Amino acid sequence: MRVRIIPGGRLHGEATVPGDKSIAHRWLILAATARGSSRLVELPRSLDVRSMASCLSALTHHAGPALEVWASNDPAATEGHGSTWNGTSRQDTSTPLEVEGEGRSALVAPTRDLDCGNSGTAMRLLAGVVAAAPFHTVLVGDESLSSRPMERVAEPLRSMGARVATTERHAPVKIDGGGLEGIAYRSTSPSAQVKSAVLLAGLAADGATSVEESAPTRDHTERALAALGAPIEVTDAAIGLKAFQHEGFEARCPGDPSSAAFLVTAAALTRSDLTLRDVGLNPSRTHFLEVMARMGIQTDQRVEREELGEPVGDLHVAACPGIGPALVEAHELPLVIDEVPVLALLAAHAQGDTWFLGAGELRVKESDRLTAVARGITDLGGHASVEGNDLVVAGGGLEGGVGQAGRDHRMAMACAVAALAAQRPCEVDGMQWAEVSFPGFLSILRGLGARIEVVAP
Ligand code: S3P
Repeated sequence: MRVRIIPGGRLHGEATVPGDKSIAHRWLILAATARGSSRLVELPRSLDVRSMASCLSALTHHAGPALEVWASNDPAATEGHGSTWNGTSRQDTSTPLEVEGEGRSALVAPTRDLDCGNSGTAMRLLAGVVAAAPFHTVLVGDESLSSRPMERVAEPLRSMGARVATTERHAPVKIDGGGLEGIAYRSTSPSAQVKSAVLLAGLAADGATSVEESAPTRDHTERALAALGAPIEVTDAAIGLKAFQHEGFEARCPGDPSSAAFLVTAAALTRSDLTLRDVGLNPSRTHFLEVMARMGIQTDQRVEREELGEPVGDLHVAACPGIGPALVEAHELPLVIDEVPVLALLAAHAQGDTWFLGAGELRVKESDRLTAVARGITDLGGHASVEGNDLVVAGGGLEGGVGQAGRDHRMAMACAVAALAAQRPCEVDGMQWAEVSFPGFLSILRGLGARIEVVAP
């Protein structure tokens, strides 16, 4: 789908964003492996999360049909998306997903390959789950996922005792699991997916498992396990846990802060005041707001409740008089890893140069995001370059042009919001990729007043 964005005009109102993709992946795994029934509300029906539900349906007996029906529903026809706020009540018609778990040891051998689609989180977390299960599993994915590194997760799972074969270091990943021993794992490159895979494997391993991270990453797995009563200990040095079988649980998925980042950027670039409701405010996910604060964007967070250990509340963006440049240091990168595309496109509108140091990990995301971000800025009439593993964005604004999503959901959305402040109307090709993580993105942005036309379906 190709869209045309007409700059100018303010955004008005309030909005919600779809449920958090990272959290949804973890809660689906925990519900499918719980002993007892779980009730999950506001799970996002983004393609990635549906891939996870579909894979889990092949591994479970009782829970299988409910997961499969949920996974196969078209997001356009169902609820659980973000919505704009009509001033009176939230458009919340979401149907909870009820999952009948029979415990981790009741997982069944899948009769098909598990297709993780575009989702790296699904593939790596599921690898941790099936590594402990005494059967053969094959994890496959689409073209983009099949080019992403899988040895990083295979290697620790092998040292726990699973037989894991990658295909030239990539998917398909073939796993013969069972009989795991806990390990003390020290991750060399910070990755929440690898950490979570080891912790999920450790939950069904003999002895203690620990993970020491080279830099902090998102901690959704640790928070959910602690809330479920698992024997998990989190210190500055490491995360340690022992085998544990949890019970079923009920939780409402918070809005995804990484999706909120696109709307915060849209508000800042149109000098609008905006409130986002029910957003996940876990500090391991909101570091992008600190970077934005350095760029002159003022936001306010108000935590209102907790859901399975996750703080949730409202996020208010104040009308921003102008964008300044920033320096984003290498040690911060893991905490803004998914927001670099939108922060970089935002920085193209700053007065001065913005640097993202040590951003090499972006080369192995859904696309080579380091190159894609620099190209996206250039395509829209700005200036950016890659110097080694650093990304340098020259401020000064975007003249206008045609941005390419390049099959990457975050690139599609980053280009679309950056175009709201370009000097001329811009087009974005591949807008449909937004569905991977943010179903309803265009209608929410339009509902807030952005002028966006579909040029070609
Ligand atoms: C995720 C972790 C990050 C992130 C991805 C989601 C997760 O990947 O980029 O979108 O849910 O654990 P890495 O841990 O590989 O950096």
